[in-house]
Amino acid sequence: MCSRSVFDPLVNAYDAARPSYPTYLFQDLERLAGSLADARVIEVGAGTGIATRQLVARGARVIAVELGEAMLSRLRERTPDVAGAVLGDGEALPLAAGVADLVTYAQAWHWMSVPDAAGEAVRVLRPGGSLAVWWNDVDAADTRWWRSQQTRLEAMSPGYDRDYRIRPWADELRWTGNFADVVTLTGRWEREMPIDAYLTWLRSKSYVAAIGDRLGDFLGSERDSLLHAFPDGMVVEPFRTVLVVARTDA
Ligand SMILES: C[S@@+](CC[C@H](N)C(=O)[O-])C[C@H]1O[C@@H](n2cnc3c(N)ncnc32)[C@H](O)[C@@H]1O
Repeated sequence: MCSRSVFDPLVNAYDAARPSYPTYLFQDLERLAGSLADARVIEVGAGTGIATRQLVARGARVIAVELGEAMLSRLRERTPDVAGAVLGDGEALPLAAGVADLVTYAQAWHWMSVPDAAGEAVRVLRPGGSLAVWWNDVDAADTRWWRSQQTRLEAMSPGYDRDYRIRPWADELRWTGNFADVVTLTGRWEREMPIDAYLTWLRSKSYVAAIGDRLGDFLGSERDSLLHAFPDGMVVEPFRTVLVVARTDA
């Protein structure tokens, strides 16, 4: 059977190497959308459950919705306290109207048609509930190693553009006319990891998988470039988080 998610074949690399989200992001989310303790949260594009487990740890009752069967099955194995985990599409949620306090998309909103997914989020939210979308974006444009990686990717991965996630996320939500209030918060953090783990993180990305037959060449060039930039073998990668919270009318 053909997978419905480009991430299904990447599930092991995804689970092993994708970063979780910093604590401050959940504190900001609670400040803008209310306490997560006992909140009814629908998490769409939940993947292997990286954000799911962080939401559950803060007391949320999370129903995870995910397009990929392999991703969802890994989430179920790794997240025993999830309230529900269903195969489904963010643009046609398999859920009744008004059942959620919060609908979230961690690193997944850019896969959606905004008007369709925003309409679905509003349908399943109670009045006054919120939609929250967020990302960990690599924030390394001032480093030579990252710029040369991106140049290689743009040459080798069909259609890839390093700025693919630069979009007016808050305005796109305002333009739907569905929300009373839309707020964006950003923050910065970094992580340090051995080069092999960093290469696994690269392999978890759909646009790296799209390189196809030349993936080995790409990863070989990356290893050389990273060893040059980080001679001790530990890659330091800066991130910028972007959190957008859109509240519906009460
Ligand atoms: C980059 S991953 C993010 C996974 C997880 N939220 C995290 O923070 O690691 C994007 C996920 O969205 C899922 N996805 C893509 N389009 C979707 C859709 N229309 N409905 C539901 N899930 C979708 C993919 O299968 C993938 O698991």
